[in-house]
Amino acid sequence: MRFLSLESLPASSLLRVFCNAVIFFTLCQYNGAATTSLPFNETVPAVFIFGDSIVDPGNNNNNIKTVVKCNFPPYGKDFPGGYPTGRFSNGRVASDIIAEIFNVKKIVPAYLDPNLQLQDLLTGVSFASGGGGYDPLTAEFVSVLSLSDQLEMFREYKSKLKAAVGERSLEMMISKSIFIVCSGTNDIANTYFLGPFRRPHYDIQAYTDLMANSASDFLQGLYEEGGRRVGVVSLPPIGCVPSERTLNGDIFRHCSEPPNQAASLFNSKLSSLLDSFNSQFPQARLVYLDIYNPLLSIIQNPAHYGFEVATKGCCGTGNIEVSILCNSYTATTCSNASKYIFWDSYHPSQKAYEILTRLALHNKINKFF
Ligand SMILES: *[C@@H]1O[C@H](CO)[C@@H](O)[C@H](O)[C@H]1NC(C)=O
Ligand SMILES: *[C@@H]1O[C@H](CO)[C@@H](O)[C@H](O)[C@H]1NC(C)=O
Repeated sequence: MRFLSLESLPASSLLRVFCNAVIFFTLCQYNGAATTSLPFNETVPAVFIFGDSIVDPGNNNNNIKTVVKCNFPPYGKDFPGGYPTGRFSNGRVASDIIAEIFNVKKIVPAYLDPNLQLQDLLTGVSFASGGGGYDPLTAEFVSVLSLSDQLEMFREYKSKLKAAVGERSLEMMISKSIFIVCSGTNDIANTYFLGPFRRPHYDIQAYTDLMANSASDFLQGLYEEGGRRVGVVSLPPIGCVPSERTLNGDIFRHCSEPPNQAASLFNSKLSSLLDSFNSQFPQARLVYLDIYNPLLSIIQNPAHYGFEVATKGCCGTGNIEVSILCNSYTATTCSNASKYIFWDSYHPSQKAYEILTRLALHNKINKFF
């Protein structure tokens, strides 16, 4: 795996960031239109993202030998410039929108993007990898980056930035940054319900315990690396994504109940885990971000949110295509993805991400500070 080397950055960009703690934040501030007013007039210097395809801006494109990729059309057709980036949608994904809501920037790049500049690193990157999960087997099956790989990349990021800006600036920047963790859907949809290895040995109680224990280890690791303001995204109603309706729903393609029940069970464990973490570590601000209920509401009342299609994706038939099956050779694409909640059979459209992310963060921003 190839990682970005700071030594390759031009000296001028290193000079620009010199960075003593005082002017550090001024320089690193987002210059775009600030939209959210944050508590105590705080400025968030950076966002750091971990997890799966919901928040992967294209790490899987870069020297990762996996079929879980989407760096080809029609993915990205509504991204600025209209080109595929490796984001699993027609445009921006949840990580980009979260960074925008915290006034940091509009696009969060992939840590493995070989063209990153120092300024990109200073305002945050995503380490997420489509196809991964909390269960380490999930990433292993499809040869993508596990959460422990992602944490290792964050340690590497820190050692590079330490050389450029100094340890104290870096630590202060990290303690004020927003961390987002979004994982677990592939554990339930793929590893548990499709794969052969877990179901014979674990019932859903035991499997969601395994997931929650792994989430706990990861959050502990993030805390040890300095992460304090951490939003953890719940699981969605997995049984209602178009591919689950097709594979596991009834002939009318109703939502499949077992994955929805598993997701709810995990969510309640995750929520208590975050509560106990917050009482154990008074400096931590772990924030549970519910997407289960908002997404279900959007799916049940599409017209209320401006959508026309709730049960099929825009790409291809919309029933089954995802990743390599959604490409410009096999799949025709709907003309206006904004009418669809789902872009492919597994991932929301940009429009749905915009609505869902704002609903998930609604009334939650204060809890990070
Ligand atoms: C935030 O900034 C505004 C404008 O500078 C000021 O009026 C207000 O008192 C500040 N609020 C806090 C909590 O510091
Ligand atoms: C696409 O659909 C959305 C939602 O119905 C609508 O607001 C928008 O104007 C449409 N765009 C085009 C180019 O037709």
